[in-house]
Amino acid sequence: MHTHWGSKLGFVLATAGSAVGLGNIWRFPYLIAQNGGGAFLLVYLLCVGLLGYFLLTAKITFGRIAATNFIDGFQKVTNGAASRLWSRLGGFLTIFNVFFVSAVYVVVIGWTLSYVVASAQNLIGFSSVAIDKNLFETLTASYGTQLFWGILCIVVTSLILIRGVKGGIEKTSLYLMPFLFLLLIFMVAWMFMIPGSEKGLKFLFTPNWADLGITESGFDIHKLAHVALLALGQAIYSLSLGMGVCFIYGSYLKPNTDIKKSGLWVVILDTLVATLASMIVVPAVFAFGLESNQGPGLSFITLPFVFSQMAGGKIFMFVFFLLLFVAALTSLISIYEPVINLLIERKGLSRKMATMCVAGMNVILSAVVLASFTGHLSWTILGKNLFDCADYVTGSYTMGLMVLIYCVFMGWKIWPQIRDNLKIKNKIFENYFSFVIKILSPIILVLLFIMA
Ligand code: PFF
Repeated sequence: MHTHWGSKLGFVLATAGSAVGLGNIWRFPYLIAQNGGGAFLLVYLLCVGLLGYFLLTAKITFGRIAATNFIDGFQKVTNGAASRLWSRLGGFLTIFNVFFVSAVYVVVIGWTLSYVVASAQNLIGFSSVAIDKNLFETLTASYGTQLFWGILCIVVTSLILIRGVKGGIEKTSLYLMPFLFLLLIFMVAWMFMIPGSEKGLKFLFTPNWADLGITESGFDIHKLAHVALLALGQAIYSLSLGMGVCFIYGSYLKPNTDIKKSGLWVVILDTLVATLASMIVVPAVFAFGLESNQGPGLSFITLPFVFSQMAGGKIFMFVFFLLLFVAALTSLISIYEPVINLLIERKGLSRKMATMCVAGMNVILSAVVLASFTGHLSWTILGKNLFDCADYVTGSYTMGLMVLIYCVFMGWKIWPQIRDNLKIKNKIFENYFSFVIKILSPIILVLLFIMA
C-alpha cells in the first residue's frame, strides 16, 4: 500500500525541507557574490518564477496521479501505453542522480556537522578549536575524519527514514523547519546590527548590469547566457527537481490537496531562505572588508573568520553551522526516499531493509569519491577527481536531463491529466503552464546542455 502524508502542512514542510539545503545556504550566497549580486538575484528570481514553480508543481502532480514508485509511474498513468523506454531512462537517471548527488552531499554535510561540534565546544568552553582556514584544510585533507562525519550523517538520516513517511520524514520536518526559520531570523536580525553590513546589502539588492554583460557600449550575449544558465542550474538544484523527490512526495498526497498553492509555498520558502542566507553571509563578509567572491570556501573559511572577529561571534558561529546542518539533513532525507520507496514496492523489502541498502550504497560511493578527493585514489574522469566529477556531471547534465525527460513526458503524453488533476481554472495560467512544460523548458534545457 502506497502511504500518505498525515497533513497538508506536513507535505509542504517536508517538500520545503527537501528544497532548502546546502544549495540555499552554502551555494547560493557564493554564486550571488561571484556573479554580480543583485543582477544574479534578479535572474534567479525570474528562473524560479517563470519556470521553476511550474516544473515543481507539474512533477508533484504527476506523482499524485501515479501514486506509485518512479519506475512504474510512467506506465500506470498511461494505462500501460507508454513505451518502457520512459521508465528505463527515467529510472536509470533517478538512481544515478540519487547515488552520485548523495555521495557528494554527504561529504559536505559531514564538514558541516564537524563544524557544529567544534563551534559547540568553543561555545561551552569545553575546549578551544580555532575554526579557520587551517581547520578546513586539515579536515579536507583527512580521509578518515571526513568519512567518519559523513557516516554519522548517514546514520542519523537512516534512523529518521526507518520511521516511515509520516513518523519519520513528516514529523522531523514539522519540528526542524520552524526551528530552521527561527535560527535564520535570529541571524538576519543580528547581522543588521553590525556596522558596515549595509554595504553588503546594497551589493545584494542593487543589480550591476555589467555583470550580466549589459553595458552602454553593447550587450555580451555569452556573459548573459552564462549567468542565466548558472541561475537555472541553481534553481533546478535548489527546488530538488532532478531526482524524483517531487514525484515521490507528490505520490503520497491525498486528492484534495491544492498543489498549486502548496507548490507556491514551497517555492516562496525556498527562495526566501536563499535570499535570507545571502543577507547573512554577504554583509558579514563586506562588513569586515573581505573578498566575498571566494566560491565554496566562503562558508567554511571566510565566514568563520568573520565570526571570530565579532562580538558574540561564538554563538553566531554555532547557530550558523547548526542552521546549515539542519537544512542539509532534511534534504538528504528526501534524496534517499525515491529509491527506498522503489525497493519497498518493487522488491518487497521492508522499510528498514530498503533504508539500509540505500544507506550502504551511499557509504560505499562516498568512501570512493572521498578517496579520490583526498588523493588516496588516483582515478580521474574528465581530468577531475571523482568528487568534482560527480558534482559536475550531475549538476551540469544528468539532473537537467532528467527534468527534460519528465517535461517531455508530462507535456506531450499526459498534459490533460496534469491539467485536470491540478484543477486549473484560469485560461491564461493554463496556456502559460502548458507552454512552459511543453516548449519553453525543453528548449532552455537543451540550450543548457549545449552551453555546458
Ligand atoms: N535542494 C537541495 C539543496 O538545495 O541543497 C539539494 C537537493 C535535494 C537536490 C534533493 C535534489 C534533491 F532531489
